Amino acid sequence: MSCIIKKNILSEGKTKRIYTTQNPLEVLIHYKDNITALDGLKKNFLQDKGVLNNEITTLIFKFINSCGIKTHFIRKKNNREQLCHKVDMIPLEFVVRNIVAGSMSKRLGVKEGIHLSNPIFEIFYKNDKLKDPLINDHHAVFLEIISYEELNRIYSIASEINHIIKKYFLDKNIILVDFKIEFGKNHKNEILLSDEISPDTCRFWDKKTMKKLDKDLFRMGLKEKEEVFDIYMEILKRLNVS
Ligand code: TMP
Ligand code: ASP
Repeated sequence: MSCIIKKNILSEGKTKRIYTTQNPLEVLIHYKDNITALDGLKKNFLQDKGVLNNEITTLIFKFINSCGIKTHFIRKKNNREQLCHKVDMIPLEFVVRNIVAGSMSKRLGVKEGIHLSNPIFEIFYKNDKLKDPLINDHHAVFLEIISYEELNRIYSIASEINHIIKKYFLDKNIILVDFKIEFGKNHKNEILLSDEISPDTCRFWDKKTMKKLDKDLFRMGLKEKEEVFDIYMEILKRLNVS
C-alpha cells in the first residue's frame, strides 16, 4: 500500500478536518475530539471521541460499500484518520426518520416514539448563518444546490441505506430511530455517500431497554461527558460483535 502524504488543510468543521494528499483525487479525514450540539451553541472536548467515531464510521461505511452502495470511504489510515475519495460536498443534510423523535417531535407536536409506517425524509440547508433551516426539494432546486433528478437519486440511495443499516443495527440490539447523511460528487460527477455515520449523527435506542445510546445524551444534558464516551464505546463494542 503506497504511503499517503498529508499536505494542506482543505477545510475544517466542528468535528473533522480534511487534508489534501499527494493524490488530487483523495483526501485524509481527521476526526477531532470535539462534541458539539445545537448548531455549536453547546460544545465540549471529549478525549478520544474522534478515535471512536473514526472506527465506528469505518465499520459502517465498509458495510455500506460491501452492499454495493458507493461511498467516499477508501480505508482507515490510523486511529484518527481515514482515506477518502475527494468530493464536492452538496450543502444539504438528509435526515431519514423511522421513529418520531427530536426536531420532528417538537415541530409537529407529536410524541417521541411513534413508529412511522414509511420512513420520512427531510432536508436541511447547511448554512451556519441561517442555522441550517429545514427546506424542501423546491427550495433546494431554487437555490441551485441540486437538480430534481439528483434529489430523486439521493432519496433512492438514502432509502436503500436506511433499509440495510436498520437491519445491521437491529442485529446488534440497536434500534435506528433516525439519522443524518450527507452526499458529495466526485470528479466523474457521481453522487457518493460522504461525511460520517456515528452516534453523533444518528439516534440509537437500545432494543431491550429503549435507552438512548447517542449524542442526545449530550445534547439534552442527560449524562456527564465521560458517560457519553462510555456509551459511544458501547456502540463500537456492539458493532464489533458479528
Ligand atoms: P433532529 O431531530 O434534531 O432534526 O435530528 C435528526 C437526526 O439528524 C438525528 O439523528 C441527529 C442528526 N443530526 C445531525 O447529525 N446533525 C445536525 O446538525 C442535526 C440537526 C441533526
Ligand atoms: N446542530 C447539531 C446538533 O444539535 C450539530 C452540531 O451543532 O454540531 O446535533
